[in-house]
Amino acid sequence: MEPLGPERTLVSAGVRDTLRLGEALGRLLAPGDVVGLSGTLGAGKTAFVRGVAGGSGADVDEVSSPTYAVIQSYPGRVLLHHVDLYRLESGDELYATGFFDLEAGACLVEWIDRAPAVLPESALLVRLEATGEGARALHVSARGPRGTALLAGWLSSAGS
Ligand SMILES: Nc1ncnc2c1ncn2[C@@H]1O[C@H](COP(=O)(O)OP(=O)(O)OP(=O)(O)O)[C@@H](O)[C@H]1O
Ligand SMILES: [Mg+2]
Repeated sequence: MEPLGPERTLVSAGVRDTLRLGEALGRLLAPGDVVGLSGTLGAGKTAFVRGVAGGSGADVDEVSSPTYAVIQSYPGRVLLHHVDLYRLESGDELYATGFFDLEAGACLVEWIDRAPAVLPESALLVRLEATGEGARALHVSARGPRGTALLAGWLSSAGS
């Protein structure tokens, strides 16, 4: 999937780095924020969401791959919706999942490349790439005023 804007790359040397990067973002999320996640099977999308959940004050143990449920929501400082589009055959199927009726919250969408049209005007994109055993590159980009501000805040709080 094409980056939303100029791309920056963050390096993760292990799951703990990915969790830490997710936590930094989770502390900044507000209702209405949408983060699209892409990357191959096992790239670390769900691991990243686990980090975000921790940073947003949710119960990290509740985070699993919602591949069958499609959507899971975690209460915390901000309500976090965790969506996985892997099994979606078409964007139209999203209507049946309740995606468009979600309560106000921040939204993380795994396999966003299955339905890129659901990304709003302002959004963040994180593409995870396995670069070695335990190593991952997080290619991040944003669009819109809020997406751009969120990315800038995230990069500075993550020390990048
Ligand atoms: N740096 C890293 N960051 C994240 N995960 C890593 C890293 N190094 C190794 N891993 C391993 O990669 C796997 C990532 O699994 P995870 O479920 O998060 O992937 P996913 O992208 O959500 O896959 P799926 O497409 O099946 O949903 C885990 O087993 C994790 O331990
Ligand atoms: Mg996953």
